[in-house]
Amino acid sequence: MRVAVFGAGYVGLVTGACLADLGHDVVVRDILEERIDALRRGEVPIHEQGLAELLERNRERLRFTTDVGEAIDGAEVVFVAVGTPPTASGDADLTAVWTVVDELPKVEHRVVVAMKSTVPVGTGDAVRHRLDERGLENVGYVSNPEFTAEGTAVHDFQHPDRIVVGAFDPADAEVIERLHAGIEAPVITCDVNSAEMIKLAANAFLVTRISFINEIANVCEATGADVVKVAEGIGLDHRLGPHFLRAGIGYGGSCFPKDSLALKQLAANSGYSFQLLNAVIEVNELQKRRVVGKLERHLGSIRGKKIALLGLAFKPGTDDMREAPSLVLAARLQAEGAEISAWDPIANGRAHLDGVAIAGSALEALEGADGAVIVTEWPELGEVDWAEAGSRMRQRVLVDGRNMLDPEELRAHGFEYEGIGRAAE
Ligand code: UGA
Repeated sequence: MRVAVFGAGYVGLVTGACLADLGHDVVVRDILEERIDALRRGEVPIHEQGLAELLERNRERLRFTTDVGEAIDGAEVVFVAVGTPPTASGDADLTAVWTVVDELPKVEHRVVVAMKSTVPVGTGDAVRHRLDERGLENVGYVSNPEFTAEGTAVHDFQHPDRIVVGAFDPADAEVIERLHAGIEAPVITCDVNSAEMIKLAANAFLVTRISFINEIANVCEATGADVVKVAEGIGLDHRLGPHFLRAGIGYGGSCFPKDSLALKQLAANSGYSFQLLNAVIEVNELQKRRVVGKLERHLGSIRGKKIALLGLAFKPGTDDMREAPSLVLAARLQAEGAEISAWDPIANGRAHLDGVAIAGSALEALEGADGAVIVTEWPELGEVDWAEAGSRMRQRVLVDGRNMLDPEELRAHGFEYEGIGRAAE
């Protein structure tokens, strides 16, 4: 099929590349000329495992353009994969979505617009209304939310747990189903509002699990239990399952913080206070800040102390710094008067953190440090020679914000080790 994808960000590029790999003829359109030029030259503007190979392998079926007409020409499906960042009020900013909708030209043949961007419930209704007002009855509309996670997005697209299609017209849903032929997964077809809610509810449930286990971790600390064992014991219950029960210093990224806030506001705007979600968000904010107290417990005041932040991206496997806990942590530590060094294997710390010394390796960041925090569980940190690291530090204090290291081993190297929700020494 001929497919247009509006938006050459994480979602748009992965969608475009994976659909081309299924044999479709794809045109990816973005307004950023630089980005389109780079893609045409074969450069990949984001770090996403397997994406560069996929784009290269499907070069013949992939085109990149800034021109709406070129993208739409002959397209049977138009994916919308543009950003929906939060506004000042926490609602989703749909400006980019409306721009795409308003740019759509009149077409002779049937075109299905498929919404991949995460949008509030009711957006499909509003878009349908706008299309009808413009006399674009030929343009169908479906909600086809994405559930891919950064770092594994290509794999997730090719092996989804489910494909969700919310449509006004069953024929449009069938087009989207046909487009995914070759991918083994149950297809959930429903009304547009429900598809929009499935996306928001799935992310809200995942963040609820994270804040839940983080609160259990905090109670473990107060009572002398180990949350790693507790999570294992909970997760083996088949009704609960093991996923998203890793305690840590909070969730970040381009989706969870934004989508949970958007659902909270959507509920509030509709007259309902979503109390559980409010608490989940609050717990996450506090969780990032608890690290400061942990450092102070070992170092006393951290004014003038040097703290090394190990890992900056919101999770390993990506260079994405959006809503990364490292940003809040760095700012909090700076406000307390600490001097900060930081290391990340791929995220560009210099572009995001002011007044932080960016190091070329974890060992370099630890040089002369009074304390260190594992912010992102990069596998590289498991390879660090911690005996050597300790000898370079001024004080051997380590807060393992992702519970990735063996406490006994670190203590054997003379470290004062603190995890999240793990019994103190
Ligand atoms: C998330 C969802 O997992 C995807 O299903 C969804 O499609 C995507 O958002 C989206 O809405 O676009 P992503 O943000 O890429 O994907 O990353 P996750 O792997 O889910 O991690 C998010 C954050 O939660 C990270 O900061 C991670 O460290 C944290 N996390 C995750 C925990 O603190 N504990 C856990 O047990 C799991």
